[in-house]
Amino acid sequence: MSLLDFGLDILSTSLGLLVIFLAILLFRSRNHWRLPPGPGWIPLVGNLREFMSDPDLRIPLRRLQKKYGDIYKFYIGPCPTIVVCGYDAIREIFIKRGKEFSDRPTVSLPMIILNGGKGIVSVSGDIWKKQRKFILVTLRQFGLGRSILEDKIQTEVKLFLSEIEHFNQSPFNMMPPIQTGVGNVISHLVFGGHFNHNDPRFKILMDGFDSFLHYVSSGSLVILLPILRLVPGDIFGIKNIAKKMQIIKDFISELIEEHMNKFDEENVEDFIDAFISEMKKQDVGENNIFTKEYLASIIMDLFLAGTETTSTTVTWASFYLATRHDIQSRIFEEIKSMIGTERLPSMQDKHRLVYTEAFIMEVLRMSSIVIISAAHAPVSDVWIRGFHIPKGMQMLPDISSVLSDPAVWGDPENFRPERFVSEEGTLLKPDEFIPFFTGKRNCLGESLARMELFLFISALVQRFEIMPPEGETLDIKDVDGIFGGTHAPKPFYIRAISRHAEQMI
Ligand code: HEM
Repeated sequence: MSLLDFGLDILSTSLGLLVIFLAILLFRSRNHWRLPPGPGWIPLVGNLREFMSDPDLRIPLRRLQKKYGDIYKFYIGPCPTIVVCGYDAIREIFIKRGKEFSDRPTVSLPMIILNGGKGIVSVSGDIWKKQRKFILVTLRQFGLGRSILEDKIQTEVKLFLSEIEHFNQSPFNMMPPIQTGVGNVISHLVFGGHFNHNDPRFKILMDGFDSFLHYVSSGSLVILLPILRLVPGDIFGIKNIAKKMQIIKDFISELIEEHMNKFDEENVEDFIDAFISEMKKQDVGENNIFTKEYLASIIMDLFLAGTETTSTTVTWASFYLATRHDIQSRIFEEIKSMIGTERLPSMQDKHRLVYTEAFIMEVLRMSSIVIISAAHAPVSDVWIRGFHIPKGMQMLPDISSVLSDPAVWGDPENFRPERFVSEEGTLLKPDEFIPFFTGKRNCLGESLARMELFLFISALVQRFEIMPPEGETLDIKDVDGIFGGTHAPKPFYIRAISRHAEQMI
């Protein structure tokens, strides 16, 4: 081959490669053209500024929905993210085509710190299916939806009421006592024990999860660009969060070791025992998902997902009780006339306390504790409404867009439990009521949460009159405003006046 031929060969090979490269670029960008519309973005920073201008996350979300429609995209750092709003689009994607959208996107840095990308909340595919089935079956075995669990919740309700009694009518913040109450319900299920209301270990656990949730929603640069965690020192605060999570993990590991040491196949008493029993049945190997590591991650997930959400809902409920005395009186009258004040309300009473249940539903609707559901991802490349979404892309269902949709609720801005009561006095359950989300990957703890909300809130109103601090008024404008892992009220104080000094409990 002459030098000229060799040169021509190199030239044609290079040209060929260039054409292929341009074709790939064109193909990729064509695919990108098929993503839903969205605002212009700045490389690396993405659309952060869209969300910086207003502390209420719902405002930019509504603005973007209005401008770009029910399915739009924005960039979190360099990553395109699809937002799905409104009940129709959510039903079409996450219910009708739920199987296609049941994965989670690539595990983020905070989730790696929380559960090592294992557990239940962050996993996808077969691992998710197997773990979810196991957790649901096991929680049912330990009483989910049955009376053995109700007895345990009632034990916590009584401790919660006596804790509130101790405030002796002086102003208090509802969050700490209810966090201990609902955290203890998870503790009963997971390790068969519970914490005292002043146990420092429980405070460390809750403070750790609180800090984690606030960190996740802080929009810290290191979450957008995980490589920054290698910067020496801790200017992003991520190492401090990792340290707090490690303390919780060490505590959970101790619990697991204790259970392993006293394990008795004939006496499986709680979730940890049940998991150990399953571990013994499984083959050891790298595909085994019944390991101590998975168990510890699932426990982290259950505490995180099950405590903050439920306690924030009860705290919002106490705000509406204190500010809407008319509604509180109606709930109390219903409880008094249906079951009296001699014994605590039980799950068997639930169908008769229609207005009380409607109040709880309205608290869940109005406060939209989870504004944006956990991120989903398509299990393979998919087309929806003419848009092409690649496998694994982050998709965020905007729950608040449904719970505050005027086309569904008429006057979503008003707190009105009656919207859930029919003319015949029965409870209405509209499809659009989705605070626990919907479809294949809906909240795994919904029935537990609804049981807890009913038992804690109805007992609270039966026993106490909830009031603002003496001489003060409470207003939604003063308390609304923490958009962390959950949409929580800013800390506020209420008083609990015992209705009958000589009453039961
Ligand atoms: C008022 C209380 C609660 C609310 C509003 C709530 C809401 C939610 C929402 C919106 C999701 C995301 C669903 C999705 O992936 O799109 C979720 C997931 C989850 N929740 Fe809850 N939740 C509550 C209480 C609980 C409780 C008490 C537990 C404890 C067992 C729990 C355990 C979970 C778990 C494990 C997941 C992940 C499910 C999965 O990835 O398959 N939740 N919850």
